[in-house]
Amino acid sequence: MLRRKRRLLLQRRKPINAPSGDPDDAARGILIANSRGGRYTIPAKRLYPFQWNWDSCFSALGWSTFDEARAWEELRTLFAHQWPGGMVPHIIFHERHDTYFPGPDVWRLKQEVPTSGITQPPVAASVARFIYERAKDREMARDMLARLLPRIFLYHHWYHHQRDPGKTGLVAIYHPWESGRDNSPEWDAALAAVPADKVTPYKRRDIDHVLAEHRPSQDDYNRYMALVELFRSHDYDHGAIYPLTPFRMADAGVNFMLMRANRDLLWLLEETGSADGAARAEIAKWIARQEEAFESLWDENAGAYCSLDLVAGRNTGIATSGSFLSLYAGAARGGRAERVAGTVERWISESKFSVPTIVPSDVLFDRMRYWRGPIWAIMNFMVATGLRESGYYAALQRIGEDTAVLIRTNGFQEYFDPLSGAGLGGADFSWTAAMWLFWAREFGR
Ligand code: GLC
Repeated sequence: MLRRKRRLLLQRRKPINAPSGDPDDAARGILIANSRGGRYTIPAKRLYPFQWNWDSCFSALGWSTFDEARAWEELRTLFAHQWPGGMVPHIIFHERHDTYFPGPDVWRLKQEVPTSGITQPPVAASVARFIYERAKDREMARDMLARLLPRIFLYHHWYHHQRDPGKTGLVAIYHPWESGRDNSPEWDAALAAVPADKVTPYKRRDIDHVLAEHRPSQDDYNRYMALVELFRSHDYDHGAIYPLTPFRMADAGVNFMLMRANRDLLWLLEETGSADGAARAEIAKWIARQEEAFESLWDENAGAYCSLDLVAGRNTGIATSGSFLSLYAGAARGGRAERVAGTVERWISESKFSVPTIVPSDVLFDRMRYWRGPIWAIMNFMVATGLRESGYYAALQRIGEDTAVLIRTNGFQEYFDPLSGAGLGGADFSWTAAMWLFWAREFGR
């Protein structure tokens, strides 16, 4: 029985849309097939049947290459479900589906359209700027931005206040899912301190769709659920949760994405002539604070900025592809930028395909397990963007070409094995299709 299930899963892993024809058409076809009601894009059928915060933003980049109105609609829908306090939830459960756990009955939030009670990396402002800068319909772009920017400002305001009450310049994540890099080894030590003995029995659904050995472990999952139950018992009052959650991390990735998003938000407000001078001054203050605080993320041994455990007061010292977003944020300058680029170059030289989430020579490296080794197209896009903007063209070229080759030969998979290039996780994945259309295709000709 088990063998049969395994065989079925392996068969299902074969990309349905391994682009035999034109990969542009295939990528557009995936976004169209994963679109719901013309309003939002699910990451992948069955495995992820709702709207995810940062997936949705990356999907918008893909849409923008062939349907600008649809791209803006994606962001509009996401922000229509923003909480009154500013948080943009990590999942919006537009429809009922029993194929995903934990669903709305676990989060137990009383909204018309239920959401989860945590957030994800804030990439919306950066995505809005990317779309705006290439937009052919300028009038529509300005019109959409006029509605969107105040909401994005509120989101960043929420991050800087609720998740950094001490105004240190470092925002905290409360759950590994908030990093978007669920089972990264960066969270291991902190997660081990989360008590999970009282967690309510539950049934995972992810391993019905993909192989268990590629997914986070059962022990990790119990602790993920213990944190959800803790937040629920405090009615998702994020300000009140800050001092009492056993898991509070300054994730390098999220902090860098927020820094870039702050810069992009400021740029967009200035570009569109926003009259709100107070908001602009506040964003500038956040950025200045971040610039100073990020020094505490630097780890000399790793040659990179690493996540900081705010409960234990300890730098994890674990470099991941998230660490390289320091270039994307414009946070690493001068000698530090040189060091980060050097670390990226070393990782690339050790790996058949780039960029792995963890360098293959590291004992923590696990080539197929989710965020503990594999390559993710969205990370490649952001890392490569940072390299390009800092002038490291050789590394940028290699990452772009690898991404294009991986997609062309293995399809629009959720993620890829950095040693063999095999496509893993869900097939016909929206963000991989979007990254092809918006970015990787230029290296694939
Ligand atoms: C997984 C990923 C997360 C993503 C979600 C939907 O949970 O770790 O980053 O948003 O799947 O694709």
